[in-house]
Amino acid sequence: MDKLWSGRFQKQTHQLVDEYTASITFDQELALVDLAGSQAHVKMLTTTGIITAAEGQALLDGLQQLEVKAKAGELTFDVAHEDIHMNLEYQLTQLVGPVGGKLHTARSRNDQVALDMHLYTREAVDQVMAKIRTVQRVLFALAEEHKNTVLPGYTHLQRAQPVSLAHHWLAYAWMLQRDWERFRDSRRRVNLCPLGAGALAGTTFPIDRQQVAAELGFDDVYANSMDAVSDRDFVVEFLANAAILIMHVSRLSEELVLWSSEEYKFIELDDAFATGSSIMPQKKNPDVAELLRGKTGRVYGHLIGILTVLKGLPMTYNKDMQEDKEGLFDTVKTLCGALDLLAPMMETITVHGDRMQAAVQKDFACAVDLADYLVRRGMPFREAHGVVGRIVFHCIEQGVYLPDLSLGQYQEFSPLFGEDLYAVIEPTAAVQNRTSQGSTGAAALEQQLQALQQALNEG
Ligand code: ARG
Repeated sequence: MDKLWSGRFQKQTHQLVDEYTASITFDQELALVDLAGSQAHVKMLTTTGIITAAEGQALLDGLQQLEVKAKAGELTFDVAHEDIHMNLEYQLTQLVGPVGGKLHTARSRNDQVALDMHLYTREAVDQVMAKIRTVQRVLFALAEEHKNTVLPGYTHLQRAQPVSLAHHWLAYAWMLQRDWERFRDSRRRVNLCPLGAGALAGTTFPIDRQQVAAELGFDDVYANSMDAVSDRDFVVEFLANAAILIMHVSRLSEELVLWSSEEYKFIELDDAFATGSSIMPQKKNPDVAELLRGKTGRVYGHLIGILTVLKGLPMTYNKDMQEDKEGLFDTVKTLCGALDLLAPMMETITVHGDRMQAAVQKDFACAVDLADYLVRRGMPFREAHGVVGRIVFHCIEQGVYLPDLSLGQYQEFSPLFGEDLYAVIEPTAAVQNRTSQGSTGAAALEQQLQALQQALNEG
């Protein structure tokens, strides 16, 4: 079969070349956006008089039929036609006859594929943003539910200071908030229309780029035709934002894995979101959380992949750029899959508040509060740190905790201690006594919840 570009050639391409250069096995993902782009292009060709109204109508009818078939999953493709653009053009011509050959007037595959990638990425941005919101809302609800659940906050994976579980969940909700904002901010760079750039230099036809842009919901057109066909920075940016998002998801997942272990037992995953072992009958494994953590590898890989593909390319379009697709498509599927699972998995977690409480009781998590107590009685903080350090050492030697020492014993370390010290080393009080902005105390937490609620209302 002759290629659409076979005029200049004397021979057919080698079968291996067809297979190697074809992208149809994966870029068929772009079928619907390609058809939408072609429809907008045809409308513009008609209003500008580049083709007649009758030709335009015939093309639109054909494109419409292809769209119906594409939505029904009834289109079949052929590697002989290399990519989605030429497959669809071929099928259109089969449907409408030689007028199909007018579709590609004033257009190149270079601006066509750039357009498709923009449309695809824009949809992906919107989809991911909506899914981030769903997870944030689950975290928000969990925070509302666990304002009064106290657990150790950790640094270096060592118990540090008691915090409210709400505060802990909200930390992730804020990470996701910045992820959401990153995608939102990137959207205006995605929402630029490259069509009309032609192969690289524009066209001699009196096209109306603004019309196509408006028809497809773009904010503006690329100002430079060479830039329009040669860059994929919007794909890089999507993948970079995806990498940061999946990193956050991975950290949360890691915590779910740790917390559902017998050693922590702070939570239990719902049976519906855990798996068993083929040999050990007792096992309940956090496979979903582990996979969410593991999926990070492929997303980071795709980011490095596209950056590397682009780094040495001279102006303008180069076939290397066909490699921009699979990583992006896989990333979108990976992110959507991860966020779709994370929301119900978090929603159905059982929290073992008693285990969390026990972990702050049998601990020195309130040592800072004891030091602050001395500071309030005039002792310089550094000195107070030393005094409490010695008290902790004494307790460890005796096998007791801070509340177990008598006032007399405390006073041997410092005469500044009074009966009221016991109130500040009570973990729940230690949480509530934190009043600084952004802290874990009740009042600060309320403010935080309100601020997040406001952010969530933003769409
Ligand atoms: N399949 C190609 C891609 O994805 C479409 C553009 C081809 N352009 C060309 N001049 N060979 O990049």
